[in-house]
Amino acid sequence: MTRVIAVASGKGGVGKTTVTANLGIALSLLKEDVVILDMDINMANLELILGLEGKPVTLQDVLAGHENIQNAIYEGPGGVHLIPTGLSLPNLNYIKRERIEDVFEQLIGNVDLILIDSPAGLERDALAAMSPADEMILVTTPEVTSITDTLKTKLLAERMGINISGVVLNRDKKDRDFLSVEEVEAIMEVPILSIIPEDQGLIKFYAEGTPVLIEEPESAISRSFLELAAYLVDKEYLMPKIPKKSFISKFIDGLMGNGPLKTRQQ
Ligand SMILES: Nc1ncnc2c1ncn2[C@@H]1O[C@H](COP(=O)(O)OP(=O)(O)OP(=O)(O)O)[C@@H](O)[C@H]1O
Ligand SMILES: [Mg+2]
Repeated sequence: MTRVIAVASGKGGVGKTTVTANLGIALSLLKEDVVILDMDINMANLELILGLEGKPVTLQDVLAGHENIQNAIYEGPGGVHLIPTGLSLPNLNYIKRERIEDVFEQLIGNVDLILIDSPAGLERDALAAMSPADEMILVTTPEVTSITDTLKTKLLAERMGINISGVVLNRDKKDRDFLSVEEVEAIMEVPILSIIPEDQGLIKFYAEGTPVLIEEPESAISRSFLELAAYLVDKEYLMPKIPKKSFISKFIDGLMGNGPLKTRQQ
C-alpha cells in the first residue's frame, strides 16, 4: 500500500522543500522505497538541494505528454528517488495539470511512499499538489504569521478529506520572541511531530546540492529528520552509516563533470 504524503504550509519560505528532501533521504535510509515529487511546478528547486539538476526528462515533459513517468525517476542521495520538475520556466500551454492523476496512478502500488513538495498558499497549484495526498505534514516556523497561514492550509486539507499527520516546527531558535511548542500545538490542534532547530550551515548545503543529512548525519538538524522518519514509519531510529565521499573523490567527480564542484565552477 503506497502512502501519499504532502508536505505543505500556508506561508512561503518556511522550509517545506528542506523538510521534504531530508525526510525523503531519511526514509530511504530506513529502507523505505520513496519517490519525491516536486509539485511546486512554477518555482521548482528540490532538484538543486538533492544535486539532481539538469536531468534530461522532467515532470514538465510528462505533464506535457512528451514522456512516460518511468523515464523521469532518478536516484538521489541515500537512495531516495526524485521526479525533478525542471528549473526552466514551464511552458503553460503544454502542461496539463490533469495529467498528474495519471502520474499517481502509475506510481501507486509500486513504491512505499510518495512525498509531495507543495507550493505555499491556497491557490490552484497548491490545491493540485494536495489533492492526491491522503496524509499531510504541515511545516511552520514559530512566528504568528506562519502559524495562522498554516492553520488555513490545515482547515482546507481537512475539508478535502486529507488526514493531518501533524506539524513540523522548523527553525526553532528557543527564543522567547517566538511562540512556544505548547502554544503552537494549542493553536494548530494537531501533534508536533518534530522540532527542527535553526541551522545557519544549511544555506551552504543548499548551494552545493549536498543535503545536510548526508554531509553531517550526526548534527542536531539531521537527527531531527531521522527521528521524524522513524516515527512516521514506526521503525527504530538508527544513526545511519553513510559512506561519505572523500575530498579527493569529490575533486575527481568535479574534474569529470559529475558533482557540485562543477556547479560551482560554472
Ligand atoms: N532549519 C533551518 N535553519 C536554517 N535555515 C533554514 C532552515 N530550514 C530552511 N532554511 C532556509 O530557509 C530557506 C527556505 O527554505 P525552503 O526552500 O525549504 O522553504 P520552502 O517552504 O520550500 O519555500 P517555498 O515556499 O519558496 O517553496 C532556505 O534558504 C533554507 O536553507
Ligand atoms: Mg519549496
